[in-house]
Amino acid sequence: MRHLLTLADYTTAEIERFFSISEELKRQCQQGRREPLLAGRVMVLLFEKPSLRTRVSFEAGMAHLGGTAVFLGDAGLGKRESIADFARNLDKFADVIVFRGFLHRTVEELAAHAACPVINGLTDFSHPCQALADLYTMREVFGKLAGLTLAWIGDANNVARSLAIICGKLSVRMTMATPEGYRFDEPALAWIREQVPELDLTVTADPAEAVKEAGAIYTDVWASMGQEAEQAVRKRDFAAYQVNAALMKRAPSDAVFMHCLPAHRGDEVTDEVIDGPQSVVFQQAANRMHVEKGVLAWLLGVQK
Ligand code: CP
Ligand code: NVA
Repeated sequence: MRHLLTLADYTTAEIERFFSISEELKRQCQQGRREPLLAGRVMVLLFEKPSLRTRVSFEAGMAHLGGTAVFLGDAGLGKRESIADFARNLDKFADVIVFRGFLHRTVEELAAHAACPVINGLTDFSHPCQALADLYTMREVFGKLAGLTLAWIGDANNVARSLAIICGKLSVRMTMATPEGYRFDEPALAWIREQVPELDLTVTADPAEAVKEAGAIYTDVWASMGQEAEQAVRKRDFAAYQVNAALMKRAPSDAVFMHCLPAHRGDEVTDEVIDGPQSVVFQQAANRMHVEKGVLAWLLGVQK
């Protein structure tokens, strides 16, 4: 049995297998075929933070596969009952648990005590399902991944860390334009280097430099969930890091714009860019479900 807490735990071949299963399930879905591969199976979504895409993509994906999802929002994890006891109860009812929350060690503790697979649906440390959908989307757009460059403009956050890991595994170059003070610190960089020594990563303070050879220009909110108190300071510190039409012009003309969403329009991205012809943000969102269906089929053993 495997969990999906970070993509660092998966080989390149396993990630490529997720993609091939997802591709087949997406093709079937678009033809109106929804094979009940997970009939009778139950997913529990245990969420400490708000969500649109993660919750709905997992619930809808589970329904497509013939299974059922149970959403637990304010269930008192670690307060009403310990994290370990949550895991030891939920695995009696559920075949898979998806957790979204603050501390990464919470999802690690759930996984340590659950007798069923646990999937990380975002922690402060990583967002593996997002990064899977993102590289799957780049593969759809460009027909390949190796040799492409993904330019990250903004905070070195959970999404950036997951992208760094998957870029390393799939031979995508990564450039990051991030202000001082918001970059990966030394321990974070050392961890990334240890997990993916093959990653070609460049860090700069200059967004124009970062995007000049980019196939994909990716940004995220300047203040992630849990950092709301830093919103004003971050808005000031990231002011020069907006992805706007002027920045897009510094990139190759076939570059796409990516964002995990939700977007703070007018901050990290302008309407013109996110609604413009280069934007693939809703293709990314759609692929969350297709890729998660592939991951579920593999983790629950109905696809090898
Ligand atoms: N991108 C993403 O994870 O969206 P939600 O926060 O809405 O789930
Ligand atoms: N970095 C953002 C991603 C949201 C999908 C956050 O953690 O809030």
